[in-house]
Amino acid sequence: MNFKEICETRQSCRKFDPLRSVEEEKLNAILEAGRLSPSACNGQPYHMTVCQGTAKDEIAKATQGPGINGFVTDAPILIVISETDYVKSAALGAKIKKNDYRSIDIGILSAYLTASAHELGLSTCILGWFSDEKIRSICNLKDPIRLVIALGYAKEGDVLRTKKRKDFDELISFLEDKKEI
Ligand SMILES: Cc1cc2nc3c(=O)[nH]c(=O)nc-3n(C[C@H](O)[C@H](O)[C@H](O)COP(=O)(O)O)c2cc1C
Repeated sequence: MNFKEICETRQSCRKFDPLRSVEEEKLNAILEAGRLSPSACNGQPYHMTVCQGTAKDEIAKATQGPGINGFVTDAPILIVISETDYVKSAALGAKIKKNDYRSIDIGILSAYLTASAHELGLSTCILGWFSDEKIRSICNLKDPIRLVIALGYAKEGDVLRTKKRKDFDELISFLEDKKEI
């Protein structure tokens, strides 16, 4: 699958197959893709906690509410992404430039993880709705939880949805020098 195909066919999965587990070598390949993602000053201000089994079941509950994220129960793996300290140079840059590089870095990490999973035939859903307090306690983490990624195989028959995105012209503009006449 080339990158264009990954972009066109990756989608958030909300129908995981609870009976199909993820092969260890595929899980490792996905985590390694994440490990190689870029970050401000190469600071890598995040940690990934891979949760399976009963810990995963507890964390799934911590992502759910009435009518929210019920499907997460069926995902065999949850990757909890917590935000760690800045390296000094990134901290300084963030302060001077008033930019939240750590959130940006975690977004890029998530893009690498989800694209890699899709290339390997797996499905993901990035989860931003969860109880930080509960997940920190289950994972024994001191740092804030920023995202959880549900990972597994989609149920047979889960269809590819049409992508809904803003139009190219709304999303993108070009600035060019005026041409000399
Ligand atoms: C930061 C972030 C948080 C998200 N949180 C949730 C969530 O809690 N539950 C959910 O079902 N989808 C969640 N999503 C998935 C988005 O709804 C989805 O990416 C978007 O609608 C585009 O659809 P697609 O991923 O299928 O292309 C989240 C995505 C991102 C990037």
